[in-house]
Amino acid sequence: MGLFSRRRESGRNTEVIRPPHAPAQHAAFLAALSKDFTAPGESSAVTSVLITGAHGQLGSDLVAVAARTGIPARAYGSRDLDVTDPEAVDGALTEFAHTATADDVTGRAVVINAAAYTAVDAAEADPDAAYAVNAAGPTHLAQTAARLGLGLIQVSTDYVFPGDGTRPYEIDDPTGPQSVYGASKLAGEHAVQEAYPEAHIVRTAWVWGTVGGNFVKTMAKLESARPTLSVVDDQRGTPTFAADLAAGLLELAAADLPGGVLHATNAGETTWFDFARAIFTELGADPERVQPITTAEFPRPAPRPAYSVLSGAAWEAAGLTPLRDWRAALADAFATAPEAFRPA
Ligand SMILES: NC(=O)c1ccc[n+]([C@@H]2O[C@H](COP(=O)([O-])OP(=O)(O)OC[C@H]3O[C@@H](n4cnc5c(N)ncnc54)[C@H](OP(=O)(O)O)[C@@H]3O)[C@@H](O)[C@H]2O)c1
Repeated sequence: MGLFSRRRESGRNTEVIRPPHAPAQHAAFLAALSKDFTAPGESSAVTSVLITGAHGQLGSDLVAVAARTGIPARAYGSRDLDVTDPEAVDGALTEFAHTATADDVTGRAVVINAAAYTAVDAAEADPDAAYAVNAAGPTHLAQTAARLGLGLIQVSTDYVFPGDGTRPYEIDDPTGPQSVYGASKLAGEHAVQEAYPEAHIVRTAWVWGTVGGNFVKTMAKLESARPTLSVVDDQRGTPTFAADLAAGLLELAAADLPGGVLHATNAGETTWFDFARAIFTELGADPERVQPITTAEFPRPAPRPAYSVLSGAAWEAAGLTPLRDWRAALADAFATAPEAFRPA
């Protein structure tokens, strides 16, 4: 809370606060991304955003894309704003609401909650920690945002679904999480909907980016350490590039749309095995070094959905820009900044 206290004393503050953990190449990487990556927010009304979980994969890219597109943003890492602390949430959002209206900012003031407990396997043994961040945190944010008249985007997950589908999940398909993590995120969705029906809940999946640990970086590390690799080939989903998702969320923040659930992932679908092979190809390595295995051969503490492709139909119907194909995002990322994914 220390940082937050200092910010309150300093009064107006709409500059972007860059996450200290972001690699130096991150900003350059985002700046160099291809033209079709341009955040649609550039052509929308200026929006002021408050970003929680700003040092995470998505949070870092929300901060970077907001900076690049000129959207005033306040970014809070977990040490600066703990979303499980209702008083801290109240203080930060109240100051944000006052600043957003006092500054020369036109457009909507929107809170984007990128904070989450994302340790899927660890959550099985520590549900209290998962529910505190993924359910209680969003509850505080929704209640406060509703009272202050701020917009709210709550980020959720494909893991709210049971994973036994055979076609992309629509926004109103029955949920049925199989893991503590998925259940805690669904509890967060329900809490937000109850406290603030005007809020947006955006489910995404298989997130990877330049900041933090993720599957792409793990594959790059293993490629340099092992001759061959076994990766599960019976779980289908859609890898989602954090920077593309960030741009989509900022487009949503700038839009004046009724609240509800939306899905936002890159387009297309694949398995972890095929994703790994695509990563090896981008690394210039022989994809045949990646071999398929089944989920049963690779048991984990938390069950994973076998099928968790999310339909973007509602996103498109709302007039929002569809995210590009996951392979295009992967190729673009490696073409632009391969060093971001190679082991140090
Ligand atoms: N990663 C995926 O594959 C995936 C898939 C589907 C949906 N999602 C959803 O996408 C969103 C973003 O995920 P991500 O991949 O960016 O996750 P991430 O990299 O793990 O980032 C989450 C951030 O939340 C912060 N955080 C944790 N507890 C907090 C608290 N009490 N108060 C404030 N901040 C807190 C973490 O900070 P510390 O590191 O300091 O704890 C971390 O920086 C989440 O809602 C997640 O559920 C992710």
